[in-house]
Amino acid sequence: MKRLLGIIGHPVHHSLSPIMHNTALKYLGIDAEYLAFDVLPEELGHAVLGAKALGFLGLNITIPHKVEVMKFCTPDKISSQIGAVNTIRFDSEIQGFNTDATGAYRSLKEAGVEVKGAKVLIIGAGGAARAVSYILHIKGAEVVVANRTVSKAKEICDRLGMEYSGLDKLPQLVRWADIIINTTSVGMQEDKSLIPKRLLDSTKVVFDIVYNPVETRLLKDAKEVGARTIDGVKMLVYQGAESFRIWTGIDPPVDLMEKAVRKELKN
Ligand code: ATR
Repeated sequence: MKRLLGIIGHPVHHSLSPIMHNTALKYLGIDAEYLAFDVLPEELGHAVLGAKALGFLGLNITIPHKVEVMKFCTPDKISSQIGAVNTIRFDSEIQGFNTDATGAYRSLKEAGVEVKGAKVLIIGAGGAARAVSYILHIKGAEVVVANRTVSKAKEICDRLGMEYSGLDKLPQLVRWADIIINTTSVGMQEDKSLIPKRLLDSTKVVFDIVYNPVETRLLKDAKEVGARTIDGVKMLVYQGAESFRIWTGIDPPVDLMEKAVRKELKN
């Protein structure tokens, strides 16, 4: 019998996850389909329990439900420490995971970047920053979170004993950092960056989790000065690959998933 997977969000029609996961399912010959579901916040519990009742294998959870969904599942250690779940697996229980964290870490590892002992500047203090800062801290990086609203950076950092700052200190922090990660929406469908190009140089690794456009202003500037760059498609694909492994126990074909996403973004 065909199994079902899906993503729950609001809005969700722009999601690239269906194309990415269906490519992997088809390649592996798994009789399952991945669909997108636009679910209002007040319907979240019904949607999750309904999916379980209907025999779904699992779900991805995206904006704005990643925190609220924790009420309807049993989060594992990483997701409960991050305070957000983006992946659910249905078995006898409803299990919650956070693959944004592992996806970000794998994006860096696959690019050959050593995280342990590295000085990492994370810009932004939303859900993505929470996951990324947590995993890099756990993996032994020295993390500073800088955000426009300083209180949000403080909230993320205080629990783990990390440093935080406002955006006014960006010039010093960019010079200090080995790895710079943009988790804000700045650069999404706009030619803007929070970091002036003159602050970047070839010793840095620059990672932007924005994937639309694939080459953001920040990544263009970083490439032009010879820095190593990692784009948001990598993050999208590696978090997806980790979710896929959680649902099926199989490591999916990440190259094919990446190709499918890049092709879709070109169109
Ligand atoms: P996500 O869950 O995807 O991380 P989010 O929670 O909406 O998204 O977080 C968006 C981040 O982008 C926030 O850190 C936000 O800064 P504030 O906390 O001050 O709102 C940041 N951001 C969005 N637009 C920005 C801008 N124009 N300049 C600086 N930071 C911006």
